[in-house]
Amino acid sequence: MLLYLRLLVLTTWVVQVLANNSTAFQYKGISIGGWLVLEPYITPTLFKDSLNPGESEDDIPVDEYHYCKKLGKEEAERRLNQHWSEFYNETDFQLIKQAGLNMVRIPIGYWSFEMMDKDPYVSGAQDYLDKAIEWSKQNDLKVLIDLHGAPNTQNGFDNSGLRNIGYPGWQNKTEYVDLTVKILKQIYNKYGTGEFAEKYNDTIIGIEVLNEPYGPALSMNKLKSFYIDTYNDARNIQNFTNSIMFHDAFQGIGDWDDFLSRGKVQVVFNNGTRNITVTKSAKFNNVVLDHHHYEVFADSVHSNITTHLQNIKDYAGSIKKEKNGAIVGEWSAALTDCAMWLNGIGLGTRFEDTAPYGNKTSNGQCAKWTDAKKWSKQQKKDYRRFIEMQLYEYGINTQGWIFWCWKTESATEWDFQALVKYDIMPQPLDNYKYVKNGVDVSGSTKFGLNWVLLISMLVVFL
Ligand SMILES: *[C@@H]1O[C@H](CO)[C@@H](O)[C@H](O)[C@H]1NC(C)=O
Ligand SMILES: *[C@@H]1O[C@H](CO)[C@@H](O)[C@H](O)[C@H]1NC(C)=O
Ligand SMILES: *[C@@H]1O[C@H](CO)[C@@H](O)[C@H](O)[C@H]1NC(C)=O
Ligand SMILES: *[C@@H]1O[C@H](CO)[C@@H](O)[C@H](O)[C@H]1NC(C)=O
Ligand SMILES: *[C@@H]1O[C@H](CO)[C@@H](O)[C@H](O)[C@H]1NC(C)=O
Ligand SMILES: *[C@@H]1O[C@H](CO)[C@@H](O)[C@H](O)[C@H]1NC(C)=O
Ligand SMILES: *[C@@H]1O[C@H](CO)[C@@H](O)[C@H](O)[C@H]1NC(C)=O
Ligand SMILES: *[C@@H]1O[C@H](CO)[C@@H](O)[C@H](O)[C@H]1NC(C)=O
Ligand SMILES: *[C@@H]1O[C@H](CO)[C@@H](O)[C@H](O)[C@H]1NC(C)=O
Ligand SMILES: *[C@@H]1O[C@H](CO)[C@@H](O)[C@H](O)[C@H]1NC(C)=O
Repeated sequence: MLLYLRLLVLTTWVVQVLANNSTAFQYKGISIGGWLVLEPYITPTLFKDSLNPGESEDDIPVDEYHYCKKLGKEEAERRLNQHWSEFYNETDFQLIKQAGLNMVRIPIGYWSFEMMDKDPYVSGAQDYLDKAIEWSKQNDLKVLIDLHGAPNTQNGFDNSGLRNIGYPGWQNKTEYVDLTVKILKQIYNKYGTGEFAEKYNDTIIGIEVLNEPYGPALSMNKLKSFYIDTYNDARNIQNFTNSIMFHDAFQGIGDWDDFLSRGKVQVVFNNGTRNITVTKSAKFNNVVLDHHHYEVFADSVHSNITTHLQNIKDYAGSIKKEKNGAIVGEWSAALTDCAMWLNGIGLGTRFEDTAPYGNKTSNGQCAKWTDAKKWSKQQKKDYRRFIEMQLYEYGINTQGWIFWCWKTESATEWDFQALVKYDIMPQPLDNYKYVKNGVDVSGSTKFGLNWVLLISMLVVFL
């Protein structure tokens, strides 16, 4: 019986391997977070250092927009240039390659291409994007260019440059969406055709047109209309058929099947006097859907590790059923939302149940979780189980994954390099200790498991 089952599994596997398109790129990536777009929780020192003598924590700017506004263009330019040149250099890209990763996702803001009239932002990050593309080429890594911040914020998160939680203003005026479309045309022109693109045609694998538009507070039809417009621009302008990546806008898994298969949407515009219905369409080719998965920005933060592991299996399994290519383009080791300023400067945590969250369940003190040096054996083990399950499940059920992110000042749950240091991130990446073929075996020792196998075989054959 067991032998028969094994044969069956083997044949299924062979059939799957043969049916697979071996040329499709499997993402094993890392995001270069907090570099060309600032995030307070990734580099808190930068933000703290903007305080003047006598000011308090309340005066810390909450995002890059207010950081630049507070310092003024000249000073902001000086400090940001220093940050850009110091936070990452070619050595990081060598180390990324050595860690077994095959690509980098590089977030950048619209202001690095074109500003709006009153923007306080500083430009110059584009030169560093170009350097990073060269470093990637030197180290045989692919690059996904990721437009992470759009005019007047597509999600209201601080990581878009401008924080306005719950109230993204990207669709408040057509000029914001129009400027986004225009900037993406610049991106296609530079990175998808012509001299620069030619030099890096084997490095730049794709362009993510917009990170995490917050669907629940946006018109989804207008977002889809934007996706179609910019996709058509990409194919008209570029002469390489790179991947065009769409984020799922926090819609359910499967919700994009219809749109991506049909390439059609109807939008209603009001031209001042009347409503006009417009049908937009595109013939999508090599579009990749980007899902982000975290367990700590919802009630799931209160779950135990067993439930977390099951959640990952369910999630990855549901992606596999989608009709179009997809990756998990952001995930982390986080089992808490405790990292300082993760939710935004001045905000509490779901884990401790502090404002603006709260009054449901508290998991106890964050202090036990924020300092990795104090993590117990069990904590480390649980983090590793959580990571291994994600590596395995995303690896077999999707076109791949991109961990968020390579380094931070002190947020270990989000820091690939630090997790390697604590022997929590597997090295090599397939060095599974606790998850074997998708099964969490951390309860039984290796020895014990072999005994179980041996005994069951004896039972079968005797
Ligand atoms: C295999 O994948 C490559 C790259 O994504 C694509 O160009 C090609 O058309 C695919 N071939 C088949 C048979 O699906
Ligand atoms: C990158 O920065 C690190 C830390 O400052 C330094 O040790 C390394 O030599 C630098 N690498 C390059 C290529 O400049
Ligand atoms: C967009 O408009 C809404 C409704 O007027 C407003 O609540 C929100 O703050 C605006 N968002 C931004 C970022 O301007
Ligand atoms: C892409 O376009 C550029 C300029 O438009 C041209 O020089 C180059 O030969 C083209 N490359 C391919 C592969 O068509
Ligand atoms: C990249 O450009 C080189 C040199 O022009 C060309 O030989 C090669 O076919 C191009 N590769 C792709 C993937 O377009
Ligand atoms: C709006 O559209 C209608 C019908 O196409 C047209 O008659 C009208 O002039 C338009 N109004 C403006 C302000 O463009
Ligand atoms: C246009 O559509 C909106 C939303 O559906 C509706 O509230 C409004 O009355 C319509 N305006 C006209 C002139 O038909
Ligand atoms: C984990 O949580 C689930 C759901 O609340 C519960 O059924 C299960 O018993 C818990 N497992 C452990 C090991 O505490
Ligand atoms: C919990 O509820 C109390 C009373 O309604 C309120 O004063 C307090 O701010 C709430 N705490 C949080 C963390 O939301
Ligand atoms: C088939 O390809 C998918 C994605 O390209 C991959 O996740 C999966 O592991 C492959 N299956 C086998 C049996 O190689």
